[in-house]
Amino acid sequence: MRISLRRLSIVILLWTLCLVCLAPAQDLQPVQLPKPQTDGGKPLMQVTAPSAMNRQEIDVYVVTAKAAWLYDAKGEMLKPVAAGDLRALAGTQEWVKEAPLNLVYIADTAKMGGGDEESKALYSGADTGFISQNVYLYCASEGLATVVRASVDKPALSKALGLRPEQKIILAQTVGYPKD
Ligand SMILES: Cc1cc2nc3c(=O)[nH]c(=O)nc-3n(C[C@H](O)[C@H](O)[C@H](O)COP(=O)(O)O)c2cc1C
Repeated sequence: MRISLRRLSIVILLWTLCLVCLAPAQDLQPVQLPKPQTDGGKPLMQVTAPSAMNRQEIDVYVVTAKAAWLYDAKGEMLKPVAAGDLRALAGTQEWVKEAPLNLVYIADTAKMGGGDEESKALYSGADTGFISQNVYLYCASEGLATVVRASVDKPALSKALGLRPEQKIILAQTVGYPKD
């Protein structure tokens, strides 16, 4: 019942927007939108991150106090990459090395075909954004704190993780517990 109400409100919203778009500019009035529905809906435990041309070039590395791992989505496992605590290399800000979890989004540009570098940077940035947003949504639902970060010492972390030259660090994302 909740889901059909949600669908109905979306249809009403889309119809309202269509009618507004058809009106001449001088007739435009402010549009009161329905209140956002903040409860109900389906769980988000499903694939919700597209990638440009389905290249799936973004690898997620997981950096904790114990070690760094590569997330293997198909195998549903973490593959060890480097032993030891690399959190201080996962970001330039002080709190990064204290957080229990840092995710590092790394584009394997070798999977992206022969396009130009500008397109590859755009696509890998966008594809990372979708993944990172999913992490934001999950953290919000679980009461965790998270912040996505560009401030990473990329050469140092690339070296520590043993990356190939075609592997580019795009962003990192810290996950932790909210301060009381
Ligand atoms: C592409 C991108 C890069 C970011 N880089 C950093 C960063 O290096 N360090 C940081 O503390 N926050 C970083 N942020 C987080 C933003 O500063 C933050 O989302 C914004 O200030 C709003 O704060 P809020 O998310 O707590 O509402 C970044 C956000 C984005 C989208």
